[in-house]
Amino acid sequence: EADLYTLYKGVYVPTAVHTPESLKYYEEFTFRPDDVVIVTYPKSGTTWMQEILPLIVSGGDPASVETLPNWDRVPWLEETRASILKLEERPSPRLFTTHFHYSMMPPSFFQVKPKVVYVMRNPKDVFTSAFHYYNSASFLVKPGPQSEFLQKFLTGKVIFGSWFDHVKGWLNAKEKLQIMYISYEEMMKDLNDAVSRIAQFLGKPLELDVLEKIADKCLFKNMKNNPMSNYSVVPQEFMDQTKSQFLRKGVAGDWRNLLTPDEAQHFDNVFKEKMKDVNYEFNWD
Ligand code: PPS
Repeated sequence: EADLYTLYKGVYVPTAVHTPESLKYYEEFTFRPDDVVIVTYPKSGTTWMQEILPLIVSGGDPASVETLPNWDRVPWLEETRASILKLEERPSPRLFTTHFHYSMMPPSFFQVKPKVVYVMRNPKDVFTSAFHYYNSASFLVKPGPQSEFLQKFLTGKVIFGSWFDHVKGWLNAKEKLQIMYISYEEMMKDLNDAVSRIAQFLGKPLELDVLEKIADKCLFKNMKNNPMSNYSVVPQEFMDQTKSQFLRKGVAGDWRNLLTPDEAQHFDNVFKEKMKDVNYEFNWD
């Protein structure tokens, strides 16, 4: 089990997709000013954004979301696939993903200052989504009993470390960087509006009909039917979706079906303590 994770800059990353070579490639990566990076703590809306951004950039042309799996379409910078894809040769505007903390970004990121779309989600739902996901993925340490996994989650002993540190780090990022903060819950509430604001941020305002077409394509039920976005092309030995679907429920507030009242209270107490210095209005309940 110990081999499943590699400790990188203080956080666990799954060894299967993060080799020393891939992490070196990441550290030496050169950004361009017109790159756009999706940044998320895992299970916060990564795949959703990997559908939305390419559709905005292409002006609604679905070719890339219908032919390329999400990890080739908006690749993770820190994964083994990055160097294979020769990202340095891709035409602008390039779209990337990372799960890394602010403090883990490579030097070029701070020099070039590409755009960032930072997606956050109610951490109780992030926990809930992760609890199911860790059961289905063979490259992750099994979650074990819920109470144990909760303890691991709250202390950052899960992949990509502490949710609290991740969110705090990115919220405190230097304002000279161009970052759009958006929540999963806002996207749930009004996807048309979210897509429209993201398009504005990317400098690609869209006609209303295009915008609506994009938002429709990115509805949970439609993404669930897109084999290029629902992880169905991943062999069952790596991801057993008979245990839990990758696009599992796609709702806000599913933590209510998992956490006991005591666990929810404990979670809230930890949240209050860890986030006490954070001056940001989180919009979930
Ligand atoms: S990962 O492994 O970090 O890339 O996972 P990530 O994509 O960040 O998070 C997976 C959760 O996002 C939900 N999801 C969506 N919800 C609503 N609408 C759309 N279109 C959508 N796409 C993905 C997905 O179902 C996972 O949440 P849960 O709660 O497990 O359903």
